[in-house]
Amino acid sequence: MTEKLLQDRVIFLTGGAQGIGRECALAYAREGAAVIVADINRTAAEQTLAELSIPGLAIECDVSSSASVEAAIQLALKTFGRIDAVHNNAGISSPSKPLHETSEAEWDTLQRVNLKSVYLTTRFAFESLRASQGCILNTASMVGLIGQADHAAYVATKGGMISLTRAMALDYARYKIRVNAVCPAGVWTPLLREWVQEQPDPQQMIQYLNDIHALGYCPNGDVIADAAVFLLSDMARFITGCILPVSGGAELGYRR
Ligand SMILES: NC(=O)c1ccc[n+]([C@@H]2O[C@H](COP(=O)([O-])OP(=O)(O)OC[C@H]3O[C@@H](n4cnc5c(N)ncnc54)[C@H](O)[C@@H]3O)[C@@H](O)[C@H]2O)c1
Repeated sequence: MTEKLLQDRVIFLTGGAQGIGRECALAYAREGAAVIVADINRTAAEQTLAELSIPGLAIECDVSSSASVEAAIQLALKTFGRIDAVHNNAGISSPSKPLHETSEAEWDTLQRVNLKSVYLTTRFAFESLRASQGCILNTASMVGLIGQADHAAYVATKGGMISLTRAMALDYARYKIRVNAVCPAGVWTPLLREWVQEQPDPQQMIQYLNDIHALGYCPNGDVIADAAVFLLSDMARFITGCILPVSGGAELGYRR
């Protein structure tokens, strides 16, 4: 029997209760990993965990809170004894507006949830990742590379995440910890549906979301999960600092 790609890995996954994170949790479990679903929504995290027929843990965790992240990582370590990978996936996207209309509170919340969270999980899981020569994976976004209209504060968090991925990959290579990022363009999840409803013409936006992908459609989270499995597995053992578009060619330039 061939060994599964993530056999016996312990993966600490943030935002695993729904959307892309939920798809990743299911894929990691299929590939033999134990998954810690750390999410602010405890009920949904427990529902995701119940779907995984493997050992795991659902933890209520606010990734923007130092105390909450530290407690979640300590509980994961107490339960499994080690962490082989941290997947920083939890994120929020609202509000969708230009920078000067963004309130200070909205700016701060986006920075804390989407960007400071990477610092916090790294700070508290670092020793364990060093011991396991593990991996970090960040769910960034194509908008962090190419920009997006009317979404500046969010774009800044994803650009920051991409820069952090490269800086961390350099710093942690000496410990054999690999650090990579996946960049979706659009993926149908509760977050994207919420964003569509914030747009002036939601119906037209659905067509637009299909059209921006050169491959012709806006996908579901399974496409991100497959890339994430690859980047966390030994198949990607010589890949670090990689910012991987999983975008159906959305960024490829002028099209007809
Ligand atoms: N859906 C897309 O089109 C798209 C595109 C590019 C990037 N992304 C990124 O992918 C990631 C996942 O997005 P999604 O579309 O699956 O979103 P989603 O809203 O469907 O799921 C996000 C999950 O994160 C959790 N979460 C939110 N705030 C949290 C906090 N403070 N602490 C812990 N958990 C928290 C939510 O409860 C939820 O389970 C995000 O980082 C997002 O920026 C999504």
